[in-house]
Amino acid sequence: MKQFGPVASRAAERLLKRWRLQGPEVVQDVYEGALLWAFDAFVDSFFSPGKAEGLERNELLAHLRGLLKQAGTMRLSYFLAPDAHHDGRPSPAAANLTAFRQGVRRLICASLENGGSNLTRSLTTDPDLLEDNVSGYLAAGHDTSAVSLAWAVFLASSDLSIAAALRAEAKSVIGEGPLQPEHVEQLVSTRQVICEALRLYPPAYMMTRVCTGDARLGPHVLKSGDRVVIPTYALHRHRRWWTEPDAFKPSRFAPSASPPDRHLYMPFGAGPRICIGAAFAITELTAALATLFRSARFELAGEPPWPITDLSLRPLGGLPMKITIDGEVP
Ligand code: HEM
Repeated sequence: MKQFGPVASRAAERLLKRWRLQGPEVVQDVYEGALLWAFDAFVDSFFSPGKAEGLERNELLAHLRGLLKQAGTMRLSYFLAPDAHHDGRPSPAAANLTAFRQGVRRLICASLENGGSNLTRSLTTDPDLLEDNVSGYLAAGHDTSAVSLAWAVFLASSDLSIAAALRAEAKSVIGEGPLQPEHVEQLVSTRQVICEALRLYPPAYMMTRVCTGDARLGPHVLKSGDRVVIPTYALHRHRRWWTEPDAFKPSRFAPSASPPDRHLYMPFGAGPRICIGAAFAITELTAALATLFRSARFELAGEPPWPITDLSLRPLGGLPMKITIDGEVP
């Protein structure tokens, strides 16, 4: 997994360069930047860098964003009752889904024609299977990773001593050169910030299940077909289980601290449907956060952001921050 660290770090450097082009001190939407980073990191991790042409990438990103925007609007009927009035009609997201899947397909075919990629070598060369898998991974992993990076930047920069510690760790572990695979596990404080950001702002703020049989849950009797909501955000901030639940304290995740209960901290879910991208996400987020803090300082430009429940838990109105970048980005 650690081989994905350098890829995510290079994508973060590209983002820094984009910001740096505007000047050494700029106000930018960090969430918007993180969306570009997450897409670059994903495509470069799974397809050999340079083989996915710019045009294909830009088009695919536009379709993906359209799809996620529409998918973020939840149908109330999903939670309450079978849909009596809308059943059978394609959702408005369907058109974007088709265009998105076609874009994924083109990317895969271009990669296969060019001799394959990390993904095709490790998974399969069947374009149908690849299209299904890559579409699923992108839909599940793009916004979740982006929003996690944005919240981590916001939280880390809201505490000057933590921001300084991240910067010092990035400089001592990575040094001036490019991040190497073995650096990822040495970025101990950076990883704690990521874990704490995922506690305070879990992108998947809730999970849902449909009962396949009758069951008992504590005092509740559940019938087959009942819908159950697992409120991850509430569990992560529950006063009964966490000390100072709303405080940003990355040291909760220090190697010396006792790990949180498996079912009270579950940014990646739990059980048989646990996120298959969890290790990838932690690796890429740790590498990216260290790369950003090595070369830049962030300061909130405006009021602290409100989290809102879209497809992921995202900052309402984005995350405008003043970004000061040291010298030239390596
Ligand atoms: C910080 C980033 C991420 C977060 C917070 C996250 C969170 C989650 C959660 C909570 C689930 C379980 C949903 C449930 O049980 O109902 C899940 C499932 C899943 N995630 Fe992630 N995810 C992230 C990144 C990724 C990435 C990068 C990928 C792909 C490379 C990915 C692929 C998937 C897939 C395919 C599933 C469905 C697994 C199944 O149903 O068997 N995720 N994710």
